[in-house]
Amino acid sequence: MKTAKDYIIFPLDVSSLKEAKQFVKLLSGHVGMFKVGLELFIKFGPEVINMINSLGSARIFLDMKLHDIPETVFRAMGSIANLGIAFTTVHCGESKEMLKAAVAGSKGQVGVLGVTVLTSVSDKDLLAAGLRPEFASDVSMLVMQRAAAARDAGCSGVVCSGFEVGMIKKKFGREFTVVTPGIRPSAGSVKKDDQKRITTPARAIQNGSDYLVIGRPIRDAGNPQEAAIRIAKEIETVL
Ligand code: C5P
Repeated sequence: MKTAKDYIIFPLDVSSLKEAKQFVKLLSGHVGMFKVGLELFIKFGPEVINMINSLGSARIFLDMKLHDIPETVFRAMGSIANLGIAFTTVHCGESKEMLKAAVAGSKGQVGVLGVTVLTSVSDKDLLAAGLRPEFASDVSMLVMQRAAAARDAGCSGVVCSGFEVGMIKKKFGREFTVVTPGIRPSAGSVKKDDQKRITTPARAIQNGSDYLVIGRPIRDAGNPQEAAIRIAKEIETVL
């Protein structure tokens, strides 16, 4: 059965294998998944995956945020599929073909999640990027459009802010996985960092989120293990 800690994905946003190892040792048993991002994977590659697997039973989220022509994404997914991980990501981008290629390349061996709109992006950023005002003034409309593309292409789910989870679950069903970053716990002072559309763990779960990416509130806490336990307790109140 899924327990409160299983909802937490801790991103290993550190620059050395040594630090990553310390966090894996400290937080195994207190989070459900470790997220390996570009910083660590570019430096150490599959060695990071092997290190996490050797230290416990937490699952792995390889956050590659792929965005390229379909053939390149298909081939990259072929390499990712053999790594023994639970999820990876591809930007929803402009074309459904790229998403379909990602799903085909995954061969059903890894869950493919479409990144809808980054939680660090605001309406103003979208307008400046040339998006039509109806999308730029309503981020959720763009998120829904991109989630529909991901679903139609056969993705396992999407990554989006806690604000859009409810709409996505309602439209695409409970089975369509939703991962939510931009989480800031209700306890303590709220530091948004570079995130713009933030929610609390409890609110994101109430909205229907399946997993929460929670980085700096745990990594930068005086006691990261205690911070993870406290967040799991907050999640438990709404399960
Ligand atoms: O909790 P914190 O803000 O530190 O989380 C940062 C992490 O969330 C980074 O690993 C970043 O890649 C991830 N993230 C994400 N999708 C977004 C925004 C952030 O996976 N839309």
